[in-house]
Amino acid sequence: MSKVFVTDHPLIQHKLSYIRDKNTGTKDFRDLVEEVAMLMAYEITRDLSLSEQTIETPVCEATVKKIAGKKLGIIPILRAGLGMVDGVLRLIPAAKVGHIGLYRDPETLEPVEYYCKLPTDVEERELIVIDPMLATGGSAVAAIQFLKDRGAQNIKLMCLIAAPEGIEKVQKHHDDVDIYVAAVDEKLNKKGYIVPGLGDAGDRLFGTK
Ligand code: PRP
Ligand code: URA
Repeated sequence: MSKVFVTDHPLIQHKLSYIRDKNTGTKDFRDLVEEVAMLMAYEITRDLSLSEQTIETPVCEATVKKIAGKKLGIIPILRAGLGMVDGVLRLIPAAKVGHIGLYRDPETLEPVEYYCKLPTDVEERELIVIDPMLATGGSAVAAIQFLKDRGAQNIKLMCLIAAPEGIEKVQKHHDDVDIYVAAVDEKLNKKGYIVPGLGDAGDRLFGTK
């Protein structure tokens, strides 16, 4: 069974409160999503392996630790996942970015694919799928399956807010994928929105309706 990590750092929880607030406007919403994504990237990279190297400080020779050449990939689920990309890249600037375009059919709530462009060596990379919302789990399950169909073997999922239903679905279909979230909310409503959630993440990020 995959693990679920809830990153309850005070800064993340504080910023998430403003993200949830319906009175937070587009610019602040966008900035806050980026900041929380950056803080969560710090947590999700906690287990990266290090290798030792010798350098010269201005004082003497020293053995220091650097990330051990791991190839990372960030995979935002369009559209709303785009809002998290720059925050993650601030901490891991050398990561490659692949895009998976999915939207949720408002009637069936099933994900519909419209775009997919991935790094060519996806099978060698440690991938982080990013999307602010894990609601029914349909979009995340489909995106992870695209990656696995193309050879990906090492995948983590990072979302701001998850519903219990979405977590359960990802664990059922992809029990090798650990899930990192800032909050697990109460439930989904009849329209498949997370309660209390933050509303429609894509619309709030891009100022659409
Ligand atoms: C939202 C969100 C997820 C999906 C979650 O995207 O960003 O991708 O819904 O719902 P699910 O877990 O039930 O699949 P949406 O389909 O609204 O598209 P958008 O990002 O283009 O707004
Ligand atoms: N997608 C969103 O943007 N918000 C939700 O609450 C559920 C799906």
